[in-house]
Amino acid sequence: MSGSAGTVVMTAPDHYEVCYTINPWMRPEAWSRDPAALKAEAGREWTALAQALAATGLDVEVVPAAPGLPDMVFPANAAVVLDRRVLLARFRHPERRGEEPRFKAFFESLAVRGLVDEIHLLPEGVFQEGAGDCIWDANRQIFWAAHGPRSSLASHRHIARTFRQKVVSLELVTERFYHLDTCFCALSGGEIVYWPPALSPESQALVEALVPPAQRIEATAAEAGTFSLNAVNVGRELIMTAPPTRLRRELEARGYRCRIVDLSSFLLSGGASYCMTLRLDLASALAQPRAAE
Ligand code: ARG
Repeated sequence: MSGSAGTVVMTAPDHYEVCYTINPWMRPEAWSRDPAALKAEAGREWTALAQALAATGLDVEVVPAAPGLPDMVFPANAAVVLDRRVLLARFRHPERRGEEPRFKAFFESLAVRGLVDEIHLLPEGVFQEGAGDCIWDANRQIFWAAHGPRSSLASHRHIARTFRQKVVSLELVTERFYHLDTCFCALSGGEIVYWPPALSPESQALVEALVPPAQRIEATAAEAGTFSLNAVNVGRELIMTAPPTRLRRELEARGYRCRIVDLSSFLLSGGASYCMTLRLDLASALAQPRAAE
């Protein structure tokens, strides 16, 4: 365990494909032009991402894939995890609901292995799509949680109660940026990289109230459209799809190192590196005393 920067979950890419459309980025017609080549490409990209994560010191825990559930490859949507406590997702779209029992069984196996302690369920009819719509901000000790295309506002009080943490609710108002992680990234140094118009004016004001101007990195729609905000941040490392030059310079000027991975075949489903991962090791200040014992 020593030297590990934490543990991250990825789902094996074996059953990944793009065969339906539940967000505006999904391109089943592009996939069907050459499924065999794209599948092989997806396998290579997945491996490169896993290697980039391992190179930052993360242990990669792989969930088995399941036929007919192509979006299982995006485990960020499976649950919210903090302090070894798991709140399982409830998916908005029927296409993804079959993932729920699979991920439940997976987290139960993690509990048996001692990697997580508690597994919690949301009530029926309350949608919440995991860490994709609920981003832990370690600097501020808050969850930035979205509601809108996928997650219900009602889920936020369950998140607050389950983790005993403050939840800041943000409303997503566009279809293109349908999960918070497509347009919002909280960095280890306290900066927030985001595309403000993805949020309602009230939610933009909330971000402005909580994040000082020097820590707000505003991306453009085109920059967010590269899915480079959908990044995994480990210390000063950012594992991301290639950001446009301006954004990359800004991140590097602030001391971050961009490790670029090509995830083109996953962009055909509207996801990139953050979506393809789920951190198991995030811990709040609440958990520190126990960890120190
Ligand atoms: N095709 C998937 C969906 O629409 C992509 C999910 C990407 N995940 C994310 N956390 N943004 O549900």
